[in-house]
Amino acid sequence: MRKKIVAGNWKMNNDLAETEVFLVELKKQVFPENVVIMIAPSFTNLNHAFKSLREHNVELAAQNMHQNNEGAFTGEISAKMLKSVGVKTVILGHSERRAIFHEDSAILAEKVNTALENEMTVIFCIGEELEDRKKGSHFELIKKQLSEGLFHISDDAWDNIVIAYEPVWAIGTGETASPEQAQEMHKFIREIIAENYSKAIADNVSILYGGSVKPDNATEIFGQDDVDGGLIGGASLKVDSFMKIINSF
Ligand code: 13P
Repeated sequence: MRKKIVAGNWKMNNDLAETEVFLVELKKQVFPENVVIMIAPSFTNLNHAFKSLREHNVELAAQNMHQNNEGAFTGEISAKMLKSVGVKTVILGHSERRAIFHEDSAILAEKVNTALENEMTVIFCIGEELEDRKKGSHFELIKKQLSEGLFHISDDAWDNIVIAYEPVWAIGTGETASPEQAQEMHKFIREIIAENYSKAIADNVSILYGGSVKPDNATEIFGQDDVDGGLIGGASLKVDSFMKIINSF
């Protein structure tokens, strides 16, 4: 079911004490009923956040996950571990994972499979670099990322997929895609899902925009027909700006 979603990707920010300050403040807020609200703290704070948010309408996501269910993978976290601390959603394919940690489409496809086998929801991130956009190859690149990382899944699996379009040149730079650029790409994403699966599946999937979403630009971006919400980095670290974005639909 297509939903409005605002998810905060905290990246490597907020230790336990800072997480607690955020949660105390967040729990005082009144949330709009038609928006799914999610935060993705670091692994070390997920269990604390889960316990703290139990009575509240805020979901949790992990920022990454290993593709194997268990084994000799020092430093890694499995789907089972995430589920055991109350996490049912995982962000996969973030551009920082792709670029800094060399996660390619083959690894991401495996991670998607593992998450789905473990009945988790995946927020699958895609996005072009500035060079791709300058060359005019951004549509092709997005199609490739989707085809290689996601288009092997079954029709039914789409119920557990959210897509986040995050142009790399807009992440943490203060430069957002214009609402028109976001709409154009989101529409394209829906069209290629329809081509590869069906119009019904394409119409049902939530597609979030990410990249310098702030309180002062969220309304315009969220107002686009094919934009179902946002994956928010910097502006999700403070309750005040996060709430303003949540209330921007
Ligand atoms: P910023 O909102 O800080 O640009 O980060 C976006 C992002 O990468 C969310 O995953």
